[in-house]
Amino acid sequence: MQLRDRVTIVTGASSGIGLAVARALVREGGKVALVARTAAKLEQAAAELGPAAAAFPLDVGDLTALAALPAEVRRRFGALDAVVNNAGVHHRGDMLRHPPEKLAQMCTVNLAAPMVLTRAAAEEMRVGGCIVNVASLAGKLAVPGSAVYSGTKAGLRFWSLAAAEDLGRRGLRIASVNPGPVDTAFFDEDIEHVSALTFSQPMSTAEQVTDAVLACLRSEETGIEIDVPGPSGKLATLGYLVPQVSRLLRPLLELRGARAKAAYRARRGL
Ligand SMILES: NC(=O)c1ccc[n+]([C@@H]2O[C@H](COP(=O)([O-])OP(=O)(O)OC[C@H]3O[C@@H](n4cnc5c(N)ncnc54)[C@H](OP(=O)(O)O)[C@@H]3O)[C@@H](O)[C@H]2O)c1
Repeated sequence: MQLRDRVTIVTGASSGIGLAVARALVREGGKVALVARTAAKLEQAAAELGPAAAAFPLDVGDLTALAALPAEVRRRFGALDAVVNNAGVHHRGDMLRHPPEKLAQMCTVNLAAPMVLTRAAAEEMRVGGCIVNVASLAGKLAVPGSAVYSGTKAGLRFWSLAAAEDLGRRGLRIASVNPGPVDTAFFDEDIEHVSALTFSQPMSTAEQVTDAVLACLRSEETGIEIDVPGPSGKLATLGYLVPQVSRLLRPLLELRGARAKAAYRARRGL
């Protein structure tokens, strides 16, 4: 799909990866519907991007409001071509430290919301359109201290692979991008509970993840996945397929990750 004059819904568009994707789509001549909860930040992003962008303040966990969004966007921009399911939440650490409601919220925001938005968007999208899900390498390899988050991101990847056929019958494509650690505000909350293992992999920028999202949108293929960075994706696949390798490497990776985490905290003042 070429990107000029195409209309895309981007969730989690007020910061980090979502904002970088929205900026890139507008640079390519596209139009974007920006979604996040904090209206003021979203309006600020819309003002920066100009008339090609519009703010739709919404909690994607409100599934009824979310299901109504694609028709609203089509009324605003006259068409709908793509959805980037990017909004995500991570309540970190041992799952037993969180009340059940917080675990359920991760499932709703990270997994149910992309499914509901895709279902509703499929009714409004032009043939040739595409859904891109921002999953995680934590959805390829079980990450300690991220049990429920890992489960939601693995679910997102597998739903995406399975849904390719259903969407294909409507002439639509679907793809996933699986980032390792990315330098955004995502770690600002509760960094003590981010595992050292998470920081053992090279940190990407939001722009590098954006390149992968745009590659998915442009591709003619469906059901594809792009890992960012690629070598971390290969390591995650190897660890998943051969758990003995994971067990062997874990102490070394945790040592490297602890150093990288300390450096990151010092740099960001966290
Ligand atoms: N950063 C990483 O290391 C990393 C690694 C792998 C995958 N990811 C995934 O990348 C995605 C984006 O993360 P990021 O790193 O860009 O984080 P970020 O900078 O914290 O941005 C998160 C965005 O999502 C929005 N959001 C959060 N909950 C929402 C909700 N319930 N409804 C609507 N919008 C919501 C936030 O705005 P409001 O708070 O105003 O709603 C914000 O715009 C997430 O799905 C995350 O799981 C991140």
